[in-house]
Amino acid sequence: MNAFARRRLRYSAAALTLVAALWAWLWWVDASLGATAYQSGYVLYGMVVFLAAYNLRKKLPGLPLGSSRVWLQLHLYVGVTSVFLLGTHISWRQPNGYFETALFALYAATVGSGVWGLYLTRTIPKQLARTSEQFVWERIPRLRSDLLRRSRAAVLQCVSQTGVTTLAEFYSDRVDNYLAAPRGAAYFVRPSSAVRRRVMAELTDLRRFLTEAEEAASEKLFAIIRKKDDLDFHQARQGLLKGWLFLHIALTYTLIAFATLHGVVALAMRGGPR
Ligand code: HEM
Repeated sequence: MNAFARRRLRYSAAALTLVAALWAWLWWVDASLGATAYQSGYVLYGMVVFLAAYNLRKKLPGLPLGSSRVWLQLHLYVGVTSVFLLGTHISWRQPNGYFETALFALYAATVGSGVWGLYLTRTIPKQLARTSEQFVWERIPRLRSDLLRRSRAAVLQCVSQTGVTTLAEFYSDRVDNYLAAPRGAAYFVRPSSAVRRRVMAELTDLRRFLTEAEEAASEKLFAIIRKKDDLDFHQARQGLLKGWLFLHIALTYTLIAFATLHGVVALAMRGGPR
C-alpha cells in the first residue's frame, strides 16, 4: 500500500470514528432525555463554521494555522461527516416550512457543489497539463488578440509579396472568424477541438493550391490555430474552476447566514440556550 492510500485509509478511519462517536453521544443525550436536536444543532453549526473557516485559512497563508493539505483533508472528511449529523438533526425526515426547506436546500447545494468541485479540482489540472503550453487566465484575452494580429499580418504580407490571394480568401472565409470570435456557452460546458480540427483539415486540403510563400504563411497559421484552441480550452476550464469556487464560497456564506438565523430563532423559541 503506498503512502497516499495509507493516508486515505487513516482519514477514512478517523471520519468513521467521528461518525460513531457522534452517534453514541446523540444516543446518550436522547437516553438521558436531552434535546438531541439542540445538541446536534450546536455541533453541526460548529462543523459548518469550521468548513467555512477554510476560506479564511486560504486568505491568511502567512499565519501558522497548519498546512493547506491537512486543512483540505479535514475539510473533505468533516464535510462528508456533517451530512450524517444533518440527517440526525432533522431526524432523517423531510424539513417542513419554507425557511427550513430553504436551509436544507442550501446545505445540500453547498455539499453538492463541494463534491462537484472535488471532481473538477482532480480532473481539470490534468487536462490543462496536456496542452502544449500553460497560460495565466488573466492574460488569455491579450494573447488571443496577439494571435489575431499576427495571423492577419502573415496573410497580408504574403499577398503584398506575391499578389496571389488563394490563402487570403480562405483566411478571411474560414480562419479569421475562428480566431476572432469567442466560443459559445456549449463550449464552456463541454470544450471540444472539433472546430479546430475542421479548419486545420480544410487548410491542409488547400495546401496543394498554394504558392511557396503562401505555404510558408500557412505553416504559421497552423501554429496560430492550434494555440488559439489551447487558449480557448484554458479559458473555459480555468474559468470553470474559478466559477465553481465562487459558487461554493457564495453558498457557504449564505448557508452560514441562514443557519445563524435558524439557530437564533430556535433558541428564542426555547427560551434561551442550555
Ligand atoms: C456545508 C458544507 C461545506 C462548506 C460550508 C464548505 C466551504 C468551503 C470553503 C469556505 C472553502 C474554501 C474556498 C476557498 O477559499 O478557496 C471550500 C473549499 C473546498 N471545498 Fe468545501 N465546503 C463544504 C463541503 C464540502 C464537501 C462535502 C466537499 C467535497 C467532498 C468540499 C470540497 C471542497 C473543495 C475540493 C475545496 C477546494 C479546495 C482547494 O482547491 O483548495 N466541500 N469549501
